[in-house]
Amino acid sequence: MPTQNIPVIAIDGPSASGKGTVAQLVAKSLGFHYLDSGALYRLVALKATQTQTDISNIKKLAEIARNLEVIFSDNKIFLENNNVTDAIRTEECGILASNLASYPPVRVALTDRQRAFCQTPGLVTDGRDMGSVIFPNAALKIFLTASAEIRAQRRYKQLIEKGINANIAVLLQDIQKRDERDSNRQVAPLQQNTDAKLLDTTALSITQAQNAVLAWYSEACANIAFELKVKAP
Ligand code: CDP
Repeated sequence: MPTQNIPVIAIDGPSASGKGTVAQLVAKSLGFHYLDSGALYRLVALKATQTQTDISNIKKLAEIARNLEVIFSDNKIFLENNNVTDAIRTEECGILASNLASYPPVRVALTDRQRAFCQTPGLVTDGRDMGSVIFPNAALKIFLTASAEIRAQRRYKQLIEKGINANIAVLLQDIQKRDERDSNRQVAPLQQNTDAKLLDTTALSITQAQNAVLAWYSEACANIAFELKVKAP
């Protein structure tokens, strides 16, 4: 289990909601570490493609997940010493990641690797099950979402900026399909848990979303400090 005394901010939410951008900015503001858990599923997908692993071969996919040789450094991601930062961002990789993320052995194989990111002074992480499964004791849990149309527009902009071809209507369809698959799977489904705060960013700028998270975190810290004071002998 994660280390109890290290603060974690867990931001979960659907595809292309902007949770990664917000999580990174919050981590920077607080001087915390950052974990993009979706990147791990995308890395498994990339490695499976490179090794022509069948998507139905769950045992082999779990083995890939367990043995991933990955380094996160300065906003870049290296798989076996190759820079795959952009290669894992394609829609194909995202769709494959979403498919293999429904296999419990793959999720179990990635659990300890994710928890190892919980180090002082703290961690901000984003994904689908950060608050529910990986860091259930997180100091702050957020469900960050936006309308599917706005998310398609955001993903379009992100892909075009990376020089990756995209079609907004196709992206919207992909996002809706991914929402359905991520929400309806048996293990760690995408859902807002009762202890998570809802942050709908449809009409919010990135800075407004970042500030909302920081304000909630200050509030959570004040509550924890108050509880400790009350409990003190
Ligand atoms: O691009 P998008 O934000 O949708 O996805 P991502 O965060 O990069 O994750 C890619 C896929 O991995 C998602 O569609 C999820 O199915 C899966 N995932 C997951 O199951 N659990 C996580 N903690 C993170 C991602």
